[in-house]
Amino acid sequence: MKNNFPNIFQPFTLRTATVRNRIVMMPMGSDLAGHNGELSDEHIKYYELRAKGGTGLILVENICVKYPEGSNGTTQLRIDKDCYIPRLFNLTEACHRHGACIGIQLNHAGASAMSSRIGMQPVSASNIPSKTGGEEPRPLTKEELISIANDYGTAAKRAVNAGFDLVEIHAGHSYLISQFLSPLMNDRTDEFGGSAENRARFCRMVIDEVRKAVGPKIPISLRLSVDELVAGGNTMEDCLEYLQYLNDEVDLFDTSAALNQSIQYQIDANYLKDGWRSYMAKAVREKFQKPTIAMGNIRDPKVADEIIARGDADFIGMGRGLIADPNWCNKAQYGDVADIRKCISCNVGCVGNRIGGNKPIRCSINPDLIYGEEYKRTKVQKECNVVVVGAGTAGLEAACTAAEVGCNVVLLEKEQQVGGLSVQISKIPAKTRLADFPTYLKHRAEKLGNLKIVTGVDATVETVKAYQPDLVVNATGSVPML
Ligand SMILES: Cc1cc2nc3c(=O)[nH]c(=O)nc-3n(C[C@H](O)[C@H](O)[C@H](O)COP(=O)(O)O)c2cc1C
Ligand code: SF4
Repeated sequence: MKNNFPNIFQPFTLRTATVRNRIVMMPMGSDLAGHNGELSDEHIKYYELRAKGGTGLILVENICVKYPEGSNGTTQLRIDKDCYIPRLFNLTEACHRHGACIGIQLNHAGASAMSSRIGMQPVSASNIPSKTGGEEPRPLTKEELISIANDYGTAAKRAVNAGFDLVEIHAGHSYLISQFLSPLMNDRTDEFGGSAENRARFCRMVIDEVRKAVGPKIPISLRLSVDELVAGGNTMEDCLEYLQYLNDEVDLFDTSAALNQSIQYQIDANYLKDGWRSYMAKAVREKFQKPTIAMGNIRDPKVADEIIARGDADFIGMGRGLIADPNWCNKAQYGDVADIRKCISCNVGCVGNRIGGNKPIRCSINPDLIYGEEYKRTKVQKECNVVVVGAGTAGLEAACTAAEVGCNVVLLEKEQQVGGLSVQISKIPAKTRLADFPTYLKHRAEKLGNLKIVTGVDATVETVKAYQPDLVVNATGSVPML
């Protein structure tokens, strides 16, 4: 069988877990959980679809180790009680069935929790908010820190019991551990503040508790904001310094970046190039001789393959790329790269829904991120003529979908080219990534024998009627948002 990208599609072993390839689905809070913090059926299906699509290692979104004070988001997953184990087990079983490994990201939100949600004052290293205008947290005592480290350990044990192959400790992105590591949020004068060693002490306690709980067979990943990319925060050099106190029990460094104040570098803005921050993974890998994950707008398999070939990292982290196309791996490995629906980093359907709107994630370019292409299994039972008016992205998507379920489709476009507004907007230098979507749709449409595209035509009533449509779809265009 052919393998288009041999560097990414080769296995890698972390302790007892052999990951079939180098693609890791990044942890991404989804708001797909039930209000009690339990995985919903849709949630399990969502991850299972990415496992089926060939992903090597799935890292499940941040899960709460101490409820309510450590919780984050609207309906965050929980692992603070045994009652969460059965459904987590259903999830690991569903992903293992398709050959994927699966890990989970343990987290305490600290000052990034909101009192309106948790019903108490948030806690942290100091009384410094984790975001501009955020609430003032209460500094934790040493006894409380010992107890929270213990909660991480108990949570990790539950994770192993539920069948996870790896546990990840979230030590980045302005959450509790990061609030200790970053001098921006830690002004303590005791053994948990000041020097790099002191600021790393709480993280060290957590790692030790987790290792005690999971034993020698389960790999531990540590997610970091390698460079916080905020004035006065940890730089990459600072991170390389504090990691010497954390390194020995860690098997994998998940080398993320940035804090709340620099979120455009953490959930990368669309103008940032594929893999722009893999130098961070490289620096950690070189200094500690441990495997690392590089991430950040990585959508193009060629770029991913080159990152591995260059030795910047051992794994490629892909977050939104797998929301947009759950089959990224299978398409990249065996198929046609042009079939990949590349995420355009718009942050509307995913981040916008979850963080901005307290709603489950969706995707602006993937109409069904839970069930994927299952719609193709149900074909029309009798002849059905469809005329779609307007070959922008919505019209192209509608036309392709109708053709894929067996309709005879005509797509009418006034302009000489298809793609509509997205093609125009992608000419703006900071928005070039947007062109990936119409390019993908055009390629998909061109492969469908029962879809005819007619450009340079005005869709009058007469023109439409001439095709004897059973169904007309009006997709005559959108208005630009400035
Ligand atoms: C909707 C959404 C939720 C996220 N939630 C988490 C999270 O739970 N934990 C975490 O460490 N990072 C989280 N991230 C960051 C991603 O893991 C990832 O590092 C980031 O999106 C950059 O990778 P990408 O360009 O491949 O998406 C989230 C990102 C998105 C888009
Ligand atoms: S909503 Fe936008 S940023 Fe999010 S996964 Fe879809 S295309 Fe990517």
